[in-house]
Amino acid sequence: MVSRKLVAIICLLLSAWEGVQAQESSALPALHKPRAEEFQHYLWPASTLADTRLAHSSASKAFRQNNRRLLASTNTAAQAENGEGVIEYRPVGFNIDSGDFATFFAIAHANKKATGIRVAPGTYHVNDNVPDQSHIYMRCGDDREDDFEVDFTGVFFYFTNWEHAGIQLENCTNIDIHGPFEQTYTNDQLGYAQGTIVGINEDALEYTVEVDEEYPGERVMMTQAIAISLFHNDTLLIKSPDPYMDIIVGGTDGRKSLGNRKYSFKARGVTPNVTVGDYFVARGNLGNNGLRFEKVKNCTARDMTIFHTDGFGVYEPFGRNNSFLNIQIRPFPYPLGRDGKLPLCSSSWDGFHITGAHSGTFIKNSYIVNTGDDAIATSGFYYLVAAVDPGQKSVTIATDREITFNPGDLLTFYAQDTERLGTQTITKMYSVEEPNEISGKTSEIATDFKYDDADFMKVFLDQWPANMNRLRFDDSASSPSNNGDGFAFVNNTIGNLRGRGVLCKSSNGVIAHNRFFNLKGFGIIMSPEHLWVESDFVNNVLVLNNTINSYAPGMWLGMAPSAEGMPGMYTNNYNVDFINNTVANCATSPFLLTSAAGITVTNTTFVNVLCTQKDMRNYDWEVNGTIVMVANVKGVTFSGNSVIKDARCKHPYGNYDHPVVLINATNVNGLVAKTSVDSLLQADSTGG
Ligand SMILES: *[C@@H]1O[C@H](CO)[C@@H](O)[C@H](O)[C@H]1NC(C)=O
Ligand SMILES: *[C@@H]1O[C@H](CO)[C@@H](O)[C@H](O)[C@H]1NC(C)=O
Ligand SMILES: *[C@@H]1O[C@H](CO)[C@@H](O)[C@H](O)[C@H]1NC(C)=O
Ligand SMILES: *[C@@H]1O[C@H](CO)[C@@H](O)[C@H](O)[C@H]1NC(C)=O
Ligand SMILES: *[C@@H]1O[C@H](CO)[C@@H](O)[C@H](O)[C@H]1NC(C)=O
Ligand SMILES: *[C@@H]1O[C@H](CO)[C@@H](O)[C@H](O)[C@H]1NC(C)=O
Ligand SMILES: *[C@@H]1O[C@H](CO)[C@@H](O)[C@H](O)[C@H]1NC(C)=O
Ligand SMILES: *[C@@H]1O[C@H](CO)[C@@H](O)[C@H](O)[C@H]1NC(C)=O
Ligand SMILES: *[C@@H]1O[C@H](CO)[C@@H](O)[C@H](O)[C@H]1NC(C)=O
Ligand SMILES: *[C@@H]1O[C@H](CO)[C@@H](O)[C@H](O)[C@H]1NC(C)=O
Ligand SMILES: *[C@@H]1O[C@H](CO)[C@@H](O)[C@H](O)[C@H]1NC(C)=O
Repeated sequence: MVSRKLVAIICLLLSAWEGVQAQESSALPALHKPRAEEFQHYLWPASTLADTRLAHSSASKAFRQNNRRLLASTNTAAQAENGEGVIEYRPVGFNIDSGDFATFFAIAHANKKATGIRVAPGTYHVNDNVPDQSHIYMRCGDDREDDFEVDFTGVFFYFTNWEHAGIQLENCTNIDIHGPFEQTYTNDQLGYAQGTIVGINEDALEYTVEVDEEYPGERVMMTQAIAISLFHNDTLLIKSPDPYMDIIVGGTDGRKSLGNRKYSFKARGVTPNVTVGDYFVARGNLGNNGLRFEKVKNCTARDMTIFHTDGFGVYEPFGRNNSFLNIQIRPFPYPLGRDGKLPLCSSSWDGFHITGAHSGTFIKNSYIVNTGDDAIATSGFYYLVAAVDPGQKSVTIATDREITFNPGDLLTFYAQDTERLGTQTITKMYSVEEPNEISGKTSEIATDFKYDDADFMKVFLDQWPANMNRLRFDDSASSPSNNGDGFAFVNNTIGNLRGRGVLCKSSNGVIAHNRFFNLKGFGIIMSPEHLWVESDFVNNVLVLNNTINSYAPGMWLGMAPSAEGMPGMYTNNYNVDFINNTVANCATSPFLLTSAAGITVTNTTFVNVLCTQKDMRNYDWEVNGTIVMVANVKGVTFSGNSVIKDARCKHPYGNYDHPVVLINATNVNGLVAKTSVDSLLQADSTGG
């Protein structure tokens, strides 16, 4: 059902920009040839607080075997209970017993005379003595809300169990956790293995690899589902974006341990452009986080370095107004083994993953490289509509996620085709049983979601405007009250990773002064992802002074229902301003603007984009050679944008004189029409 008739289908090839400037200046980034910045993680002072003797498997093994001999800290619970000011936790030797530390923290935090704790500087092994919890576990159980400091200055944590997360702060308010401090896992407890591709049999989809010294080859290569990404063996840059996907190995069938750290495995499908000699990272799939802020309010983490975690670098579920300042997520700066090979993986999943925040997250001055997925991802959830009762102004919501909205919070409702039906306030809510009429049903919009597996919440709304009468079973809802709105991602350096730079599904925020390089997905993408049941469309965002220097696509504000799908008819994204951004070296989709209204695009500079001579469109509706693709947009104003192409653009295929293509766009300002053609021809064109 279409509530808004998208006016006449227009498609114009337009140009009103400063146009193509011939520039010889070498101040601009060169295609393919990495700039110093791209090596920054190796140029980064190759220093660490670690006493690396504790990294090795033998030390770690001896430590675990001697667990029972570990003494607790030299601080007793009594000191934590009676001390004043910042109370120091003094581990015995290089051992921290996680249970002892967790108890010390809980008691000190409950002591109102304590203003914080500090851990004596040093390198420590941390064991896993808190059942099912992280190594460093800090839980705030009382209602203390005044400031509390956690000072880890000069500390290096070696975590010793790959099945447990690093640091967790839980249910805390107003805590400032800071260093400079660093953390990783001992070598035998890493969540990934790396090495060199030594043999390829494409017909049999079989690859043979040799794992570098000191990595947990046997565990990762033989017992875990793995995804493998590839790196150039000279520059150590991730191969990008061809192949975009990893070599996916899936189950452990077809794995062989060939001895001398050699393994072979079968891939699920063909991955092009894998060469003998390529370096690889094989990531396991456990998902432990480096730093987890669990239901934490108004807390800060700053000056910390995460060298490795087998999951998200930083995970922030259901937070409120938290800040992350100068967080580095980057590989350990020294080789682990005698073979001299530098580590290539930091977090195995996203660098920062923010979900269901009640008030968004501030990430500033951070450095995020070599992650196994996106650098910064922020979103809420889509919930499904199980039943509707207009008479009671109520909707029964189904979800398999935790529900963290409350009475007083907002819910936005969408029809299945993403038409927005309205946003109302919850007046009361309670859990209910599954409505009989939907038993056995499966969702069409959230693939694989079985209603029988869900929890159900009946919510009552303050208003029920006529549009809401169109709400049906299996429509969706999201809550702007816990969608991460009110965020700021400022002055971060992000690159050399298998994913996107910023993946934003939150509103009322700022993405400014960030530098992106050598990504495998979009630099900045603002779009809900129904596939992951992650909400929502994006409103009121300023995208300012970001530089994206990447072979992968540049920026997209829109909606991506599926790889093949159309861009989404409803202009649900609105009020987004793009100012002073630079997009350089993209071989595909420099800028997509879809499903949006009230947009400004000012002072964007495109440098040597579309310089690979082939059709590199990501979607059928993109027009080959287009620099700015605008589809299903109502109201966009362009000014001061420019396209620069110089001699370093080896195989230009962009339409540099007519950079913008419009499909189903109305109220477009600042462009001059040069030619007009039939849109459907353009839209349906498969190129050629
Ligand atoms: C979480 O902290 C709040 C105060 O900040 C307190 O009221 C509540 O009891 C704590 N929850 C749990 C489960 O400890
Ligand atoms: C990458 O693989 C594709 C398909 O196998 C091939 O056509 C292309 O030439 C390869 N590119 C490079 C740089 O090897
Ligand atoms: C680096 O990879 C290339 C293929 O891309 C290969 O020819 C070369 O031998 C490799 N070098 C090393 C040191 O592995
Ligand atoms: C949140 O923390 C800031 C300091 O970072 C403090 O100024 C502010 O008062 C805190 N807010 C609340 C509600 O405690
Ligand atoms: C949110 O955090 C910022 C930065 O710490 C602080 O200045 C502000 O006061 C906080 N807001 C609230 C409502 O606590
Ligand atoms: C931006 O981040 C870098 C690296 O953390 C830092 O050196 C610089 O001071 C930051 N700039 C501003 C304006 O904060
Ligand atoms: C743009 O961002 C860069 C960091 O990437 C910063 O150095 C520069 O000062 C910013 N420019 C403006 C005008 O804010
Ligand atoms: C954009 O860049 C120009 C030139 O560097 C600068 O004058 C202007 O203030 C910038 N705009 C914003 C909003 O920072
Ligand atoms: C765009 O750039 C011009 C020239 O540098 C500058 O005067 C103007 O303020 C910029 N626009 C915005 C919105 O920053
Ligand atoms: C443009 O609008 C037409 C008619 O509503 C629709 O069929 C077509 O899919 C739209 N094009 C795109 C790229 O969404
Ligand atoms: C896309 O455009 C380039 C340059 O004009 C051309 O070489 C290529 O064949 C086109 N691809 C398709 C599929 O039309």
